[in-house]
Amino acid sequence: MSADLRYQSGFGNEFATEAVKGGLPEGQNSPQRHPLGLYAEQISGSPFTVPRKEVKRTWVYRIRPSADHPSYRRIDQGLFGAALGEPNPNRLRWDPLPIPDAPADFVSGLVTWGGNTGVSVHLYAANRSMRRVFWDADGELLMVPQQGALAIETELGRLHVRPGEVAVVPRGMRMRVGLPDREARGYVCENHGTPFRLPDLGPIGSNGLANPRDFQAPVAWFEETGPTEVVQKFENTLWATELDRSPFDVVAWHGNYVPYKYDLARFMAINTVSFDHCDPSIFTVLTSPTDTPGTANCDFVIFPPRWMVAEHTFRPPWFHRNVMNEFMGLIHGAYESKAHGFQPGGASLHPCMSAHGPDAAVTEAAMAAELKPARIEGALAFMFETRQIIRPSRFALETSLLQRDYDACWQGLGSHFAGRRG
Ligand SMILES: [Fe+2]
Repeated sequence: MSADLRYQSGFGNEFATEAVKGGLPEGQNSPQRHPLGLYAEQISGSPFTVPRKEVKRTWVYRIRPSADHPSYRRIDQGLFGAALGEPNPNRLRWDPLPIPDAPADFVSGLVTWGGNTGVSVHLYAANRSMRRVFWDADGELLMVPQQGALAIETELGRLHVRPGEVAVVPRGMRMRVGLPDREARGYVCENHGTPFRLPDLGPIGSNGLANPRDFQAPVAWFEETGPTEVVQKFENTLWATELDRSPFDVVAWHGNYVPYKYDLARFMAINTVSFDHCDPSIFTVLTSPTDTPGTANCDFVIFPPRWMVAEHTFRPPWFHRNVMNEFMGLIHGAYESKAHGFQPGGASLHPCMSAHGPDAAVTEAAMAAELKPARIEGALAFMFETRQIIRPSRFALETSLLQRDYDACWQGLGSHFAGRRG
C-alpha cells in the first residue's frame, strides 16, 4: 500500500464515494435491485433514535452481504482482553513493550494494559502484517502508533498512518492492519462509550485545536480475493470464523460512520501568553462525552511542540491531584515533566486523586530557570483521561516492565520553606 492514498476531508461529514461509477444508488438507500447488482447494507453506529446530530450510520453497497458467514468459534486471545487485576491506587509507570521475537500481527500483538467500563487501554507490539481481518464489537479503536506505520485497510477504504498521526476505526468496522515498516508499536484506546468527537471550543471561538478539515476519511476501495479468517472481539473474548471471500467488498458507500485519521502536527496549540500553566484540557484533540457535561468518558489530549512564554511562572505541568484518571504515553522525545524514565513507547498511570507532577530534577531546574521564551520541541506525549478508575490488567501489574521504583522520582523534593511560624 502506498502512502499517497486519496482521502476525503472533514470530521463527521456525510461522505459519499464509489470505486465504480454507478455504485451509489440515486435518490434512495435501498433500491429493489441495485443497478450494479450490489447488496445494500446499513451499518448503524448509534441507536436509531438518538438526536439527529448524534446519528452515526453508513450505507454500504457490497458484492456479498455481511450476513453470509458461518458461526464464530472461540479462539485463544493471548493478552488481548485479558483479565484485569485488582484496583491499584499507586502511580504506575512502565518501560516500553518490546517488539516480540515470535510472529505477532497487530491483533496478537495487542496487550490489554487496563480499563474500566468506558475505555480499555491496550499497547501493541507487532512484527508482521495481518492476513486475517478483525473487528471489535466492544468499542471504537483509537490507534496511536509510536513506532512503525500502520497500513489500515477497512470496509470503507484504506488509511495510512505513521507515528505522529492517529486513526480511529469505528465499532464493528472490519479492518486489517499491514506493517509497511515490518515492526510496529503503539497504543490503542478502545472506547466503549460515546464515539469520539471534537471538543466544544467555548470562548476559543470557531477555530483552533484540531480543525475539522484536517481529519481524513478513506475513499471507497474493494478487493475480490479468496477465503479470509475474520476475528471479532466480543465482550472481551475473541471469536473467529472463515469467510469464503474478503469482507472488503464494498464498492460504494455513503454516510458518517467512518474510519478516519488525523496528523497531530496539524493541532493548533493554544496556551498562555501571560502567566501560569493552563489546564491540559486546552490540548484536547478528541473527546468521548458522557451525560454529565464536561465529565468525559475519555479525553484524548496531546502535548505538542509549542512555545512556552509564561512570565513569573513555574512552567512545567503543576503538581496535581485529579478526580480524573490519567493514562499517558510518549510517541517520541522527552516529556517536559519527566526528563528521564518516561520513555517513548512507555506508559504511566496516575489514578484518581493520586499526587503527581514534575519530578525532582525538573522541578529544581524550573525554579532556577531564566524565563525566556522557550520552544518545547522534539517531544510528543499524549494522555487518555477518563472519569472512571482504570484497573490495570494482571499483566501490567506483574510484568517486569513495571518500574517498581517510580515513586522515587518525586523523592528529593525538599523543603524550600523560608517562613517562620508565629
Ligand atoms: Fe495531572
